[in-house]
Amino acid sequence: MKDILVMGIESSCDETSVSIVKNGREVLSNCINSQIKIHEEYGGVVPEIASRCHTEVINGIMKQALKEANVTLDDIDAIAVTQGPGLVGALLVGVSYAKGLSYVTGKPLIAVNHIEGHIAGNYLTHKDLKPPFICLIISGGHTHLVNVKSYNEFEILGKTRDDAIGEAFDKVARVVGLGYPGGPKVDNLAKQGKPTIKLPVTHFDNLDFSFSGIKTAVINLNHKDPNIDKADLCASFQCAVTEMLTSNVKKAIKEFSSNKIVIAGGVSRNSFIRSSFDNLAKELNIKVYYPEPVLCTDNAAMIAAAGYYNYINEERADMRLNAIPNLKIGE
Ligand code: KG4
Ligand code: ZN
Repeated sequence: MKDILVMGIESSCDETSVSIVKNGREVLSNCINSQIKIHEEYGGVVPEIASRCHTEVINGIMKQALKEANVTLDDIDAIAVTQGPGLVGALLVGVSYAKGLSYVTGKPLIAVNHIEGHIAGNYLTHKDLKPPFICLIISGGHTHLVNVKSYNEFEILGKTRDDAIGEAFDKVARVVGLGYPGGPKVDNLAKQGKPTIKLPVTHFDNLDFSFSGIKTAVINLNHKDPNIDKADLCASFQCAVTEMLTSNVKKAIKEFSSNKIVIAGGVSRNSFIRSSFDNLAKELNIKVYYPEPVLCTDNAAMIAAAGYYNYINEERADMRLNAIPNLKIGE
């Protein structure tokens, strides 16, 4: 069978990325331009600045992705782009660029849901991984527990009722003075602390999550006692949020009699969360999967991988494609 090369384009937040992926599983190139340095001084992503940066670099990143993959536009079978969810102005840069490229080359245009992209990141790292499975997506904007029934069918089992877990990490980092982006900084500082501070853990009857209570508790503790041990606070925060994640995953694994759990999204880089899920997998005698670190945070290879499965499912977009900032998974 002929190889299928998909170009992925991602611009939903503060990473401009273009990638070439072969047969949905093999990364030929994955070029990422991160704007972290630019947004750092504002303590978070400034949407207008993000859109401008995407516009400035996207064409150069596309050329670099072709060059690193050692292919030309002629060799590409389809162009996959993140349609949503994300920042509307940022998404529009990728969507407009992909439409233009599809129009001039005549190559099919494929719309990809960013959250489904995060799930597909695992297909690139684990060549043998196939649905069905339960996936926990933990990122800056999303916290979802999803039943991945097939490459194209998703059922939401639970989601956050307020903040995404990554948002809580970033907020905690900011209040304890670690700066942006906070997740990796909290992860590092927590290694020097102990989880000795009691924080509220929220559980629901169903598989939903909530992180605003714990976020507020950390802010209040830090406010009341500015000399509180920051490493202990970070370790306690990580421990409590991980407890919320593992207890819902445990419930879902039991309910679906599943023998594996797949984790995805930027927060799945977290070392404490990884080791906790490794332990849970041992306890339940199941297998746990994570993407390699560069495929956890936003990148276009995961968009190309998800795009490949949309392509072989004969899903096509056209010149009417528009960015949808609040696009839901499975839509
Ligand atoms: O998936 P992603 O790149 O963007 C979204 O789709 O939202 O995730 C970014 C999030 C940020 O909140 C960042 O702080 C978090 O992932 N993150 C981490 C770690 N590395 C990145 N959170 C905790 N521990 C980490 N090591
Ligand atoms: Zn993401």
